[in-house]
Amino acid sequence: MARAAKSKPLRDVTELTKPQAKIEHMRLSLEIEGHNERYYQDDAPVVTDAEYDALRQRFNAIEKRFPELVSAESPSQKVGAAPSGRFRKVRHSVPMLSLDNAFAEEDVRDFVGRIVRFLKLDDDKVDFSAEPKIDGLSMSLRYEGGELVTAATRGDGAEGEDVTANIRTLEDVPKKLKGRNVPEICEVRGEVYMTKKAFLALNKKQVEAGEAPFANPRNSAAGSLRQKDPTITASRPLGFFAYAWGEMSAMPEETQSGMIHWFERCGFTTNPLTKLCHSVEELIAFHQKIEEERAKLDYDIDGVVYKVDRIDWQERLGFVSRTPRWGIAHKFPAERAMTVLRDIEIQVGRTGSFTPVGKLEPIGVGGVIVQNVTLHNEDYIKGIGNKGEVLREGRDIRIGDTVVIQRAGDVIPQIVDVVLDKRPKSAEEFSFPKKCPCPLHTDVVRGETAAGEEESRARCTGEFACPYQKIEHLKLFVSRRAFDIDGLGEKQLQFFFDEGFVKEPADIFTLEKRNSKLKLEEIEGYGETSVRNLFGAIESRRRIALERFVYALGMRHVGETTALALARGYGSWDAFHDACLKVVKEDEEAIAEMDALDQIGETVIRSIADYFGESHNRGIVERLTREVEIIDAEKPKSNSAVAGKTVVFTGSLEKMTRDEAKATAERLGAKVSGSVSKKTDIVVAGPGAGSKLAEANKHGVTVLTEDEWLKLIGE
Ligand code: IVH
Repeated sequence: MARAAKSKPLRDVTELTKPQAKIEHMRLSLEIEGHNERYYQDDAPVVTDAEYDALRQRFNAIEKRFPELVSAESPSQKVGAAPSGRFRKVRHSVPMLSLDNAFAEEDVRDFVGRIVRFLKLDDDKVDFSAEPKIDGLSMSLRYEGGELVTAATRGDGAEGEDVTANIRTLEDVPKKLKGRNVPEICEVRGEVYMTKKAFLALNKKQVEAGEAPFANPRNSAAGSLRQKDPTITASRPLGFFAYAWGEMSAMPEETQSGMIHWFERCGFTTNPLTKLCHSVEELIAFHQKIEEERAKLDYDIDGVVYKVDRIDWQERLGFVSRTPRWGIAHKFPAERAMTVLRDIEIQVGRTGSFTPVGKLEPIGVGGVIVQNVTLHNEDYIKGIGNKGEVLREGRDIRIGDTVVIQRAGDVIPQIVDVVLDKRPKSAEEFSFPKKCPCPLHTDVVRGETAAGEEESRARCTGEFACPYQKIEHLKLFVSRRAFDIDGLGEKQLQFFFDEGFVKEPADIFTLEKRNSKLKLEEIEGYGETSVRNLFGAIESRRRIALERFVYALGMRHVGETTALALARGYGSWDAFHDACLKVVKEDEEAIAEMDALDQIGETVIRSIADYFGESHNRGIVERLTREVEIIDAEKPKSNSAVAGKTVVFTGSLEKMTRDEAKATAERLGAKVSGSVSKKTDIVVAGPGAGSKLAEANKHGVTVLTEDEWLKLIGE
């Protein structure tokens, strides 16, 4: 089973060779994308904010040292993940970006220093609006002629989900803006949140109804908003704090603090703790004060936000990649508590991977009762991290130990330490199972990562023969983002599986044909109507989009984003399937073709080859494709003249602000970059353009005046 534990510490980024950096960059981008998907789309993050931040910081350091690794697909160029596809998509007229993080006082001083230098100020007299950082979901509310017309989630920053009907049920959101003379177009942005009290009450109800409880108030707010039925949202107490704006046909105020008061006059609620600060010292004192008050607040916050108050200065400062120069989030350290680890259980996932789960003496951390904690893998329990680094100074975790639990805002809790002084004599080292708990008792193995290192995760080798894996596959198959079959939730599926009615995906589509024998309507809890509804729901899913189908197959490393990239790359099931079979046969051309697709690399290709290399899987796919009709994928939108092009704006622009120019270009599918290289397609040069214009001429890049650019984009 397990090989000797790794103890390699992480190599400093400055010591990485280019090939090493390339491999790590690829691995980190997959990992970050995966976490983004889990956080933004599934509302089910699996790492703490601190761990996520550490991944991103290392990733950014690698890109800084090897800028040639940056591509349009790099997570550094995106915010969050693409929307889930359940609601109509809304393209944000001004992208919804995010804030950079500060953790230490020093980071805040650096932030202010950068601003003073950038604005070339003689002194450091910059006013800041200091606001609690609400741990909810950001929302963009569009008002036209004073009426609420659209409410959209952030999504990937460029496109979000239309949740207007649900948002209309929130008391804090005016359907009509108060006051006369409001600008024709106003996009008010802010945070939707659920109070801690409402969250605890909702979870109690969820558990009573046999439903899974939400991990934290942020997830329950997200879950409550993503309801097809707005009356469910209405029954969930959600609040909204306004703190920012998107497109505005006219600006009613000149400062951030002025805008906050204007939001109040329009009928919005703003956060009462917001304060105008005049120095770094005041910012830091504000952070301290809010941190002290944090536990008493009835909503979760995970830091404070500082924003340059003058909007003209905000505009001058602009953005660096995905974050503004004019604002920063000063995070709080995560919340901690101590409790006893009662037991460790092993969960077998869809791909057979084993996750040890710690069963805790229930404990409240930051208003949430924590009973389970992920222990990730065997190495983690021993005190060894994913990359071989030493965790908890090498202290292992044993049943009976007193452990320190950390809950960092919005993610599932983690054990951050073990209190050795409190270790009882009876505590034994955990012996990780060598056989799968499934009836097959197959051997447990640890495979290799794409980089050739031993994987931390152990898995059962039983694949589809392992009932745990089979049922997990089936659960993914019917899930919301795959076949989304109403009335066939996890409970029903487990029942059908245990009874032998559904053993593999194709069986779902033959249920109705087989019902003369199965007689589902005679089963307790079912009736003719529910059975008819179930068959109707199954029937309506016989036609399925290619990307959903590919995702539903549940191949390792093929999440929603990857499935979409594959679907768009091949267009049709036949083309994709052909390619997969060729990849299995190690056809170099087919491998190169797949490798050339956006977001697809060695790990995914290897996983596809493993999947289709298995005759059992090919049989499952073949039987399934006989039952369903797979709709070809939509080609990406490319009807604008600048879609897919990399554009740089330089010099002063006269007909639009830099921000507007950037937003318009991005809306039309272009990528806006801050520097000129061989890869730049267009440089828009206004008066005063200097080195970037020279660089464009050097590389033979097309240079346009502002007017020529406007003509090209048809504005
Ligand atoms: S201003 C350019 N103000 O934090 C981004 N954001 O990482 C401007 N948030 O996505 C955002 N409280 O969801 C801003 N008072 C506040 C906030 C706040 C919470 C969230 C928001 C945003 C994320 C930034």
